[in-house]
Amino acid sequence: SSELIHDLEKTITNIPDFPIEGIQFKDISPIFLQPKLYEAVIKDFVEFSKGKIDVVCGIESRGYLFGIAIAVALEVPFILIRKKGKLPPPFIGQVYDLEYGTSEIEMKTDQLQKGQRVLIHDDLLATGGTTEAAAKLVEKQGGVPAQFSFLISLEELNGSKKLEKFNADIYSILKY
Ligand code: PRP
Ligand code: MG
Repeated sequence: SSELIHDLEKTITNIPDFPIEGIQFKDISPIFLQPKLYEAVIKDFVEFSKGKIDVVCGIESRGYLFGIAIAVALEVPFILIRKKGKLPPPFIGQVYDLEYGTSEIEMKTDQLQKGQRVLIHDDLLATGGTTEAAAKLVEKQGGVPAQFSFLISLEELNGSKKLEKFNADIYSILKY
């Protein structure tokens, strides 16, 4: 809702030139100082996904901040997508491009069932590389990337273009 957007815009702070020059860092941590605002965020995400998904996959680490609460509210399982080297086997990995170099995320292969509809959730959609890799992990296991949700999307980076081939049901509470 417009009230939620307004409250979030007041709360999220912009830090210029962090972590590197030219990048405007959006600090979402003040949201967690306001439990009522946090609840309103979860409610909004839950409205988007209610009845549409079987599982939530959240991406380490900021994708956990809202992801688990969304899953609990929807009474569906939550599966962790982790950065390389953290998960015990069995797992699969997916490499993706960063602005400089590459990175890798991993997911356990004994938690998602074939045909399950998955909400892939993260705090931020920037280039879309991270979320695209997550969608590939889901598809490799026969899961269906059914929805994507983010607190923030940076529209000029066109991250949603990378996701539409999986599913166009993409939601961001805030767009910049
Ligand atoms: C940030 C953010 C997203 C990702 C978005 O995570 O939380 O996960 O980058 O970027 P992209 O759309 O260009 O792939 P980061 O890797 O900084 O780690 P963190 O969540 O552990 O802080
Ligand atoms: Mg992240």
